[in-house]
Amino acid sequence: MKIDEAKRKIEKLKGEIRHHDRKYYIDASPEIPDSEYDKIMKELEALEKEFPELLTPDSPSQRVGGEPLKEFKTVTHKIPMLSLDNCYSSTELIAFDERVIKNLKDLKAEYIVEPKVDGIAVNLFYDKGFLRNASTRGDGVQGDDITTNIKTIRSIPLTIEFKGKLEVRGEVYLPREEFLKMNEEKEAKGEAEFANPRNAAAGSLKLLDSREVAKRPLDILLHTLGSVEQDIWKTHESALVELEKLGLKTVQPYKLCKNILEVINYVNSWEHKRDTLPFEIDGMVVKVNSYEQHKILGSTNKSPRYALAYKFKARQAMTTLKKITLQVGRTGIITPVAELEPVFLSGSTISRCTLHNEDEIKRKDIREGDTVVIEKGGEVIPKVINSVASKRTGKEKEFKMPDTCPVCSSNIVRLDEEVAWRCQNVACPAQIEGRIEHFTRRTAMNLEGFGPAIIKQLIEKKMVKDYADLYSLKQDVLAGLERMGEKSAVNLITAVEGSKKNSLGRLLFALGISDVGEHTAEILAAKFENVDLIAKAGLEELQGIKGVGPRVAESIVNFFKQKGNISALNKLKKSGVNIEKTEEERLLSLGEGRFKGKTFVFTGELTMVRDDAELEVKKLGASVSSSVSKKTDYVVAGTGAGSKLEKAKELGVKILTEKEFKDIIK
Ligand code: IVH
Repeated sequence: MKIDEAKRKIEKLKGEIRHHDRKYYIDASPEIPDSEYDKIMKELEALEKEFPELLTPDSPSQRVGGEPLKEFKTVTHKIPMLSLDNCYSSTELIAFDERVIKNLKDLKAEYIVEPKVDGIAVNLFYDKGFLRNASTRGDGVQGDDITTNIKTIRSIPLTIEFKGKLEVRGEVYLPREEFLKMNEEKEAKGEAEFANPRNAAAGSLKLLDSREVAKRPLDILLHTLGSVEQDIWKTHESALVELEKLGLKTVQPYKLCKNILEVINYVNSWEHKRDTLPFEIDGMVVKVNSYEQHKILGSTNKSPRYALAYKFKARQAMTTLKKITLQVGRTGIITPVAELEPVFLSGSTISRCTLHNEDEIKRKDIREGDTVVIEKGGEVIPKVINSVASKRTGKEKEFKMPDTCPVCSSNIVRLDEEVAWRCQNVACPAQIEGRIEHFTRRTAMNLEGFGPAIIKQLIEKKMVKDYADLYSLKQDVLAGLERMGEKSAVNLITAVEGSKKNSLGRLLFALGISDVGEHTAEILAAKFENVDLIAKAGLEELQGIKGVGPRVAESIVNFFKQKGNISALNKLKKSGVNIEKTEEERLLSLGEGRFKGKTFVFTGELTMVRDDAELEVKKLGASVSSSVSKKTDYVVAGTGAGSKLEKAKELGVKILTEKEFKDIIK
């Protein structure tokens, strides 16, 4: 193909992708199936690979993110990003209206009322139709240049049909559904969950690796104009309409209100409907509609006089806590749950809510039979705030954690420094699905093809009771499952057979011992010849290994005490699954390097990918541990680091910021 033809073709494909992006991400009415879309994208990528000189930064193929940045550049906003004054009552709204009318010399004002999106404020700058720059609010005057991260958000067009310079501002957010999904995945991996969608969005935008940001389903709602070359739009409403026509996703739902009474009614109507929106809001924003009037009213150095945020009240209710029950999660964590006298709270009836853990119950002195206050905060899921001691009758019962799992009756453990109690029996019915899903993971036994739907069927049809049973599955039985054919069944059997040769490290990780992640599994595989020797090792021996803290050691010992686990292990052995150290592992365990014998602990959110950071130190001969002890040499603390950082300080372990860490591994 000649370059001219390629250029024409590329432009055509880009146009098609932009069109479908808009249909999918903004209008929410896709025209073509995902597979067709992927085809067009692949065609574009292939052409851009063949003609690299035709690749431009605005190409939709560039949304996947690029090389990680070292740090964000600082940008100064053309006009400062102010904040809003808050109010909490109708009286304050009326006073605001009176001020506006007075400052307008008795002219009446119309208002636009829109949701106050609980997200992260960003500024987008388009020049000659191209998205040139995107930044965070920062201190209002200067923010971080997050252009590469912003480009990964599919609902933000990389080009618009607008000739001059256009600056628009809005909130990047994580839809509530996506937030819940992300936390479920985090829980399954045993990682710390995000407290609320806002934190998740903030953490995502702060990542220096835009390839990671691309994996987070962020979205945007634009609500304000920044600098625009001429005053082309006369009202806020017309600006919202025109921005939408340009393909920019603007804040919805909004309403034009003729007077402050209409404002009050509209604001009130949303106070109870807020949960019907797919994103979190913490109030409504009232804005004078006319831009001419904005100019007359002006701003203080903190906030504009033409707008006001009406914040919703904290959503609380009082009810009786009837009983505390226990729920066993997919990874064996046992969570106490409050069974409540059903109570209606902003949009839904609540009859259960988590009490998190035993310590939390003690700290709040929550007893069965208590009157409790519950709240729906920005955390989506309701929680018990406190008990009302003055309403006690004397019949309330203090809560005591049982010794055994409420589902399978195995002994439960509370590991060193951990708040949660766990059931470590891999055959516990409450955990089978989660345990098998973990076992089949790419980084564990890598049983490709065993998706969640198949695993569910296998359990429902009682074809597996634990992960070891995967090795006794027969091809003809598998082929009979829903949505399976002969060929898929053959593939599954091939995957199962192939996994028998996996390394000791993979097997150890796949077993699902609490706190034994991929890296601890590698350390153990480097130290021991086979699983049996690990199963026999005592606390002291395990704790003596660099990178294995007291909690991990305790967890390993307890794991191999459970009858169900030993029986699963024996079944694995019988099926011919490798339990010995492989040759490759023998070589890796000899790791030489600058940090030979040193142990690192990473905590908090790092801007670099955690796996990359761990790999770097391993390459230098160090090991990585998940808990801090006297044996830890370095703790690398990212943002939001908590108890591990405290422990490091207490023990006098050397603490490194991420930047210092990057310097020492250079
Ligand atoms: S207008 C001059 N509209 O709330 C400030 N802000 O507390 C103009 N926010 O920093 C902002 N939703 O990031 C406006 N519909 C909305 C909003 C909104 C959320 C954020 C915004 C601002 C913060 C002020």
